[in-house]
Amino acid sequence: MKFFVDTAEIGAIAELNDLGMVDGVTTNPSLIKKSGRDIIEVTKEICDLVDGPVSAEVTATDADTMIAEGRKLVEIAENIAVKVPLTWDGLKACKTLTDDGHMVNVTLCFSANQALLAAKAGATFISPFIGRLDDINLDGMELIEDIRTIYDNYGFETQILAASIRSVNHVLDSARIGADVITAPPAVIKAMVNHPLTDKGLDAFLADIKAAEIKIL
Ligand code: E4P
Repeated sequence: MKFFVDTAEIGAIAELNDLGMVDGVTTNPSLIKKSGRDIIEVTKEICDLVDGPVSAEVTATDADTMIAEGRKLVEIAENIAVKVPLTWDGLKACKTLTDDGHMVNVTLCFSANQALLAAKAGATFISPFIGRLDDINLDGMELIEDIRTIYDNYGFETQILAASIRSVNHVLDSARIGADVITAPPAVIKAMVNHPLTDKGLDAFLADIKAAEIKIL
């Protein structure tokens, strides 16, 4: 399973990247706003840091302008994936940009039928939003399962990029189902290391190290 980090914060990306935890990055207009940076500048900086795909989202809602924006975004670096919304115009832009040979991430996916359309339009990644479905009492994981089944039924190569991940359990469930990629905020990825029995066990070992004066260096 690939790990993308869902942020435009350079420091957080660099910290995880140094540990080999970053296979790519996703950004969106809200994350760019939060960074307080210019979209082109910050995206270039991320692309210089990370080898894998870096999703940068268009701002337009009509296909022609999305395509023009996408063509500008891909000039930033070779590893740009143009992120377009799951609308009819977004699908048109997806088809054109993938036909041009660019990676496209179709975002804001909330149904399996939408995911089917994105795959037909040649999307490199489909981003189903788990957390936002859970927020309205729907089952985000069920959507990941449905898309996995449908893509496998027909051999679609579009990668399932489980997005809007809010908890470590979302990561675990996505891995169980077989999502190709998860994108999660740095805090969620870092929280995966936590286990109370690890802390308890380490405390006991440290007490014995002190009591027995065990030294290696
Ligand atoms: C994915 O590409 C989105 O940027 C992100 O996962 C959305 O997450 P949110 O619903 O927590 O804002």
